[in-house]
Amino acid sequence: MKHLLGIDELDKAQIMAFLDKAQSYSEALSKGDWDKERLRGKIILHLFFEHSTRTLTSFEMAAKRLGADVINWNPETSSLTKGENFIDTIDTLKSMIPDAIVMRHADYGAPKTVAARSGCPVINGGDSWREHPTQALLDALTMKQHFGKIEGLNVTIIGDIAHSRVASSNLQLLSKLGANVRVIAPAVLMPQKLPFENIEKFESLADGLPGSDVVMTLRLQKERMDRALIESDAAYFNEFGLTLEMMDKFAPKAVVMDPGPLVRNVQIADDIAEDPTRSLILKQVANGIPTRMAVLDILVGD
Ligand code: NCD
Repeated sequence: MKHLLGIDELDKAQIMAFLDKAQSYSEALSKGDWDKERLRGKIILHLFFEHSTRTLTSFEMAAKRLGADVINWNPETSSLTKGENFIDTIDTLKSMIPDAIVMRHADYGAPKTVAARSGCPVINGGDSWREHPTQALLDALTMKQHFGKIEGLNVTIIGDIAHSRVASSNLQLLSKLGANVRVIAPAVLMPQKLPFENIEKFESLADGLPGSDVVMTLRLQKERMDRALIESDAAYFNEFGLTLEMMDKFAPKAVVMDPGPLVRNVQIADDIAEDPTRSLILKQVANGIPTRMAVLDILVGD
């Protein structure tokens, strides 16, 4: 049984296999020419226990572009609200024999628990602050399309590194593919330990931005903070919010990325988010489709 639970369990060759397939779907989508029957007859169950715009919609579009049927199960209208527990819910749904499960959950490692009893491939659409592997893959596809490579790129990630599963998956993927990775965060949002020793840590934009090819901003993950760790959104923006002025001053040649949701004027200012020459943010969103088509093709296709 093949699952995609995290970048932590993939080696460089496996990451490249997903990226190569994603690139071929990206080209195929632009020509309108791909196997639209690839997953015909498959039923994919979406179990999203946390809200989502991009990930949920692009998984659904990817599945439908490949001919699969999708069921968007909703925890708020399910028997969980009548007192059924998580494991009984999973066992119930698994008894209906879906062909794959795509899930998002607030608990660390929840997709792994489901994979152990699902009887079908499980794809992690984000668990706690642990991993969001398809986001890291689509970010890598976006960088590769823009620069022609990942190896040797200087990628700087700014924001709530401690609570962000996007940061966690990206730090691992980019390190495994040979990028030079930096993080910039206030001390309270910097994890004690990063997954690779050569990731450089900075506590100010002025110190961390110079030399960047890619600057990625991240949302403050307030839902995962057990207390208010930052004084205010305005104070955070003042020190760590990315603006056109800071980009022009410290990283004039860099492109900007953000996995979304964009919380404007907290993690990123309008002027740089909308800069048509430097913002790859909507390209990232678009790349969610070929990336997730690739993942479904590899894991769910016969
Ligand atoms: C992120 C997520 O949910 O992990 N969004 C996404 O999937 N594009 C990031 C976030 O919520 O900040």
